[in-house]
Amino acid sequence: MRTSNGLLSSILLASRILATPIQINNSPITLPIAVHINAEGGTLALINRDRARFQAMTARGFAKSVENNTNIPIPVNDNGQIYLANVGVGAGNYSLIVDTGSSNTWIGANKPYIPSPKSIDTGMPVGVSYGSGGFIGEEYIDTLTIGSDVQLIQSFGVANESAGFNGLDGILGLGPDDLTEVSTPSNDVIPTVTDNMVMQGITKARLVGVSFVPSESAGGVPNGQLDFGAPNLSKYVGNITFTPKTTTAPASEYWGINQTITYGDARTPLLSPTSGFVDTGTTLLYIASDAFETYQASTNAVLDETTGLLTVDSVENLQSLFFTIGGREFEFTPNAQIWPQSMNSLMGGSTNATYLVVNNIGTPTGSGVDFVDGFVFLQRFYTVFDSDNSQIGFANTANTLDDVN
Ligand SMILES: *[C@@H]1O[C@H](CO)[C@@H](O)[C@H](O)[C@H]1NC(C)=O
Ligand SMILES: *[C@@H]1O[C@H](CO)[C@@H](O)[C@H](O)[C@H]1NC(C)=O
Ligand SMILES: *[C@@H]1O[C@H](CO)[C@@H](O)[C@H](O)[C@H]1NC(C)=O
Ligand SMILES: *[C@@H]1O[C@H](CO)[C@@H](O)[C@H](O)[C@H]1NC(C)=O
Ligand SMILES: *[C@@H]1O[C@H](CO)[C@@H](O)[C@H](O)[C@H]1NC(C)=O
Ligand SMILES: *[C@@H]1O[C@H](CO)[C@@H](O)[C@H](O)[C@H]1NC(C)=O
Ligand SMILES: *[C@@H]1O[C@H](CO)[C@@H](O)[C@H](O)[C@H]1NC(C)=O
Repeated sequence: MRTSNGLLSSILLASRILATPIQINNSPITLPIAVHINAEGGTLALINRDRARFQAMTARGFAKSVENNTNIPIPVNDNGQIYLANVGVGAGNYSLIVDTGSSNTWIGANKPYIPSPKSIDTGMPVGVSYGSGGFIGEEYIDTLTIGSDVQLIQSFGVANESAGFNGLDGILGLGPDDLTEVSTPSNDVIPTVTDNMVMQGITKARLVGVSFVPSESAGGVPNGQLDFGAPNLSKYVGNITFTPKTTTAPASEYWGINQTITYGDARTPLLSPTSGFVDTGTTLLYIASDAFETYQASTNAVLDETTGLLTVDSVENLQSLFFTIGGREFEFTPNAQIWPQSMNSLMGGSTNATYLVVNNIGTPTGSGVDFVDGFVFLQRFYTVFDSDNSQIGFANTANTLDDVN
C-alpha cells in the first residue's frame, strides 16, 4: 500500500531536515476555527450533498479495503455548516475547510499561492476529485503557519483548476494519511499536518482534538478549535473515552468506529453495535433506514417534504438518544436533535417549526456504514482523532447538555 519511491518522497524527507527545530510541546498547538454556513438550496440540497459525500466515501472505502486504489470522488465541497481554519501558507493566509474525511491539504481555489523564499515546486501533479467539486494542480513544499507562531514545513497542493469551493481557499485534510495515496502519480503517502508536527518535533503525538460548539451557544457567534498533539483540557469535562478505529470496511478506511444507539428512557434499540463514520464534513446525523423508521415511530415525527427533515410538534415530546461508544453511554439530548430554529427560514423551513437533525442514510443496517456522526453530533462532544493508536476519543463538554433552541 505505502510506496516510498520517487521524487516526492525524497523531497518530503529533505523537508524534515529543512525544518527549523522547535522545542517539543507537551501542550497542544491550538488553532481557532470559525463556523461557515452555506444555505444554498436549503436543507434539501444540504441532505443531497451529505448523501453524495458519504456514498462516495463508502464506494471509495470498499475499493481501498480490497487494495483497489481507484480515485473515487469524495464530495467535501462547501456544505451546510462547516468549520474553516485560517492557515498561513508561504507568504499568504488561507481559509481552509477542516475535513476529517479527506487527507490532502491544498490551497488556490480562490486566492493565489504566494510562495515564501523557502518554497519548493516538487513538479508532482496532484488532484483530488470530490464528486461535486475537486482540484488539480501541483504539489509544493513551503512553510505552513498554524495560529500565530507555529511553523512547519508541509507538502500541499496548489490548485490551478478547482470547482465547488466558492469563496473558500481549499482544504486542511485531517483524515488518515494513506487516503492521500491516489492523489499523485507516485502513489506516495503525503504526510498530513498532524503527521508533520510530530516528524518536525513540534508535538509528541499524531493526534488532533476537535472542539465544535452548538450553533447558538457562544452568543450567536459559534467558535471551534483544533488542538494538535494533545487534547485540550479546557475544551472538555470528565474523561475522554477512547474506542479503536473500526475494522469493518469501508468505515475502516476513514475515521470510523463501532457504536450502539438507543432512544429514550426505555432505551429502544435503533442500532445494535455496528460500524460507521465520524465526519466533520457531513452536516447532519444519519442512521440506517430501519433505525430511522424506529426513530420516526418513537418520536411521532413526520417527514417534511419541503425541507427533507423530520418535524415534531414540540421538543417537549422528544427524549434523548443514547450513543454507546467504547462501553460508555453518551447522551444526545432532545435539544441537540433539533435543527437550530434561528436557521429555519434560511434553510427553506417555516420559522416556528421544530425540525430534527437525525436523517436517513438510505440503506438498511449491515451495509458497512450504518451511521454518520456528522457536524451536529460533533458539536456536542469533544472528539480526539488519535492516529498513533488508531483510536477515536469522545468526551462531554460544557455545552453537551445546552438548550440553545
Ligand atoms: C487550550 O485552549 C485555550 C483556548 O481555548 C488556549 O488558551 C490554551 O492555550 C489551550 N492549551 C492548553 C494547554 O490549555
Ligand atoms: C475498483 O473499484 C471500483 C469501484 O468499486 C470499480 O468500479 C472498479 O471496477 C474496480 N477496479 C478493479 C480493477 O477491480
Ligand atoms: C495571517 O494571519 C495572521 C493571524 O491572523 C496575521 O498575524 C498575519 O499578519 C497574516 N499574514 C498575512 C500575510 O496576511
Ligand atoms: C494544472 O495542473 C495539472 C497538473 O500539474 C496539469 O496537468 C494541467 O495541465 C494544469 N492546467 C492548467 C490550466 O494549467
Ligand atoms: C475518569 O476515569 C477514572 C478512572 O477510570 C474514574 O475513576 C473517574 O471516576 C472518571 N471520572 C469521571 C468524571 O467520569
Ligand atoms: C466492530 O464490529 C465488527 C462487526 O461486529 C467486529 O468484527 C469488530 O471486532 C468490532 N470492533 C472493532 C474494533 O472493529
Ligand atoms: C407556525 O405559525 C403559523 C402562523 O402563525 C401557524 O399557522 C402554524 O400553525 C405554526 N406552526 C407550528 C408548528 O407551530
